[in-house]
Amino acid sequence: MIKTANWITSSFDIDDSAAEFIRKFTIDKNVVSAILTVTAVGVYDAYLNGKRIGDFILAPGCTAYNKRLQYQTYDISDMLCENNEIVITVGKGWHRSRMSENRPEINTNPCAVIAEIEIIYEDGTKEVIQTDETWYFRKSKVVFNDIWDGETYDASLNDFAEMTVNIVDLDKDILIPQEGEIICEQEILYPKELIITPKGEKVIDFGQEITGYIAFTVNAKKGDKVELSCAEVLDRDGNFYNANYRSAKSKMIYICCEGEQSYKPRFTFYGFRYIRLDSYAGEIDLTKICAVAVYSDMKRSGYIRTSNEKLNKLFSNTLWSQRDNFLDIPTDCPQRDERMGWTGDAQVFAKTACYNYNAKKFFGKWLGDLRAEQRENGSIPDTVPNFWKIMRSSTAWGDAMTIIPWQLYLMYGDKKDLEDNFDAMKKWVDFMTNDSLDKYLWTCADDSDKKWRKHYGDWLALDAPSGSYRGITSDNFIASAFYAYSTEILVKAGKVIGKDMSEYEELYRNIVSTFKKTFTKYSTQTECVLALYFNLTDKKEETAKQLNDMIVSNGNKLQTGFVGTPYLLYALSENGYTDTAYNLLLQEEYPSWLYEVNHGATTIWEHWDGIREDGTFWSDDMNSYNHYSYGAVIDWIYSVAGGIKPDKAGFDGVIIEPYPTDRIEWFKTEYNSRYGKIVSKWTNTDNGVKYEIETPVPAKIIINGEERIVYAGKYEFM
Ligand code: BGC
Repeated sequence: MIKTANWITSSFDIDDSAAEFIRKFTIDKNVVSAILTVTAVGVYDAYLNGKRIGDFILAPGCTAYNKRLQYQTYDISDMLCENNEIVITVGKGWHRSRMSENRPEINTNPCAVIAEIEIIYEDGTKEVIQTDETWYFRKSKVVFNDIWDGETYDASLNDFAEMTVNIVDLDKDILIPQEGEIICEQEILYPKELIITPKGEKVIDFGQEITGYIAFTVNAKKGDKVELSCAEVLDRDGNFYNANYRSAKSKMIYICCEGEQSYKPRFTFYGFRYIRLDSYAGEIDLTKICAVAVYSDMKRSGYIRTSNEKLNKLFSNTLWSQRDNFLDIPTDCPQRDERMGWTGDAQVFAKTACYNYNAKKFFGKWLGDLRAEQRENGSIPDTVPNFWKIMRSSTAWGDAMTIIPWQLYLMYGDKKDLEDNFDAMKKWVDFMTNDSLDKYLWTCADDSDKKWRKHYGDWLALDAPSGSYRGITSDNFIASAFYAYSTEILVKAGKVIGKDMSEYEELYRNIVSTFKKTFTKYSTQTECVLALYFNLTDKKEETAKQLNDMIVSNGNKLQTGFVGTPYLLYALSENGYTDTAYNLLLQEEYPSWLYEVNHGATTIWEHWDGIREDGTFWSDDMNSYNHYSYGAVIDWIYSVAGGIKPDKAGFDGVIIEPYPTDRIEWFKTEYNSRYGKIVSKWTNTDNGVKYEIETPVPAKIIINGEERIVYAGKYEFM
């Protein structure tokens, strides 16, 4: 029972450094099993007799710390010897870094650890070693660490003296067992090139933007310094550029001891493709420098491969943006001074995420944080955990509370995802009902002049007035549309788990009819998209034609932002305009997905014009090159272009309904459902389109509107 152990902390303030907590113990009997249970205020790693315990990087992960703090258990039976020493080093982590400064109740907690080792001996006796005053603490050589700003390690320092610890009265009721996936080192990338920039700076290009850190080995003199800075892109002259990290320093600094030595940061992470060597010890040997990609340990489930290399790159960029931003919580970006669990971004990307990887456990844990952060009135803060203490609750952001559990249910078929979240989903819908100026809509007073108005609108849409991040689609339109959508999801979810939903069914009918009466005309692409995709118009044909005309007259180009883009291609293909959907997907001029690919993207950009035609950047202020939201187009590729979708929740039944185009020679989509591999491949041949299909369960195959029911197996059609 970890809760009977004590929270221990250093006996004085260690400021920005990391502290080591140590316990020595001897074993003089045969051991059957030994289990370590541990967590920290901050992030920790634990070593037993000089060996790392487990693979969890940045344990205990990121949660709504004032309500939930995960602890981990490790089997250390095979690591014990006669004389043992356990060292648990604790860095600041999300808990105590700059990003949580608005939350003093989290941020000003001391660096602390709570742990217990339970040893069962062969003679049937048991010994429990818990954190208490028999532990020691000493300063570590990690002299600075912060999630945004990086890490400094001083290997030139002498070993520190061991000192007594203090027992502190921190909350133990918040301790919960590990719920999420653990974060692990996943991939190693080697330098592609050492560049000497026009300014004369030395920059290493790893060829791919990742989240993680650099590991290196140098042969140096005591006091030599290695100092590295991170960047996502080079500027148009080929110079190092990281003004878009804003206040995040993102530095790796290492002060050497004498001789050959290796280092990698342990208590922070960086988002980067390029590393500038501000200083380096000894010769630069590229064989001794690598980048380590670190992300939540999800199992890959989706694959897309086509004859179009640019589409393949778009898919790869989306996968990387997912990996880079699935570091225990779904973040907007991994580099600048945010790295926050923005609910809107996560909602937009959830479907794609669940096709690419099995994200059930990852999102399941984060939904626990959403529920923990949900306010009494049902509103959901725009970032979860709410490190910034954001008081607002925007439409299309808070809807993460309904959309994500429903998405998990559709993909994985587990009713528990709905049961766990149902009350919170209901509270979110009730919040919208109670917050509105008008009945059956979600409206608010027009405060669009204010910098910080209630909603984010169609965030980053291209029809935004100059100087604004918000597209022109009205807030009341978007909010009322999502109110309808979330209510519809709530009704479906409630029915699946056997609740009486008649009250909410009626509410839904009223919202839809009021919406139709109130919003009779559409003036933006996003308005048409929402009306079509959320079934909020009786004039589907007319609206689809309007949307199509808008796109065609705009040169087959989109104008949508975070709200409209995820549903844009569906709104077209579900209403007879699949060709236009492909025109958008295959568009290469700005703004488009392939424009980014043509301009060297290795992840998904936040802005359609992150890099302009002339090579200049969108402002430094809000310009990430690793924001997964627009990668949401990938779920259209899986489910429409490839046509793989669940007929029943959890792929209990499968529909395979591909939509080929003659503009792509062949197109292969694969999804590993819980029953096995589903494959859909189409190839344009001289005799027409050839379809190769594989299904692990009976499936409904729909080709050119013709439906066939097939058993599990492999099939070919022309
Ligand atoms: C984030 C977004 C987020 C937005 C809210 C930004 O700073 O990076 O992705 O959703 O704020 O408007």
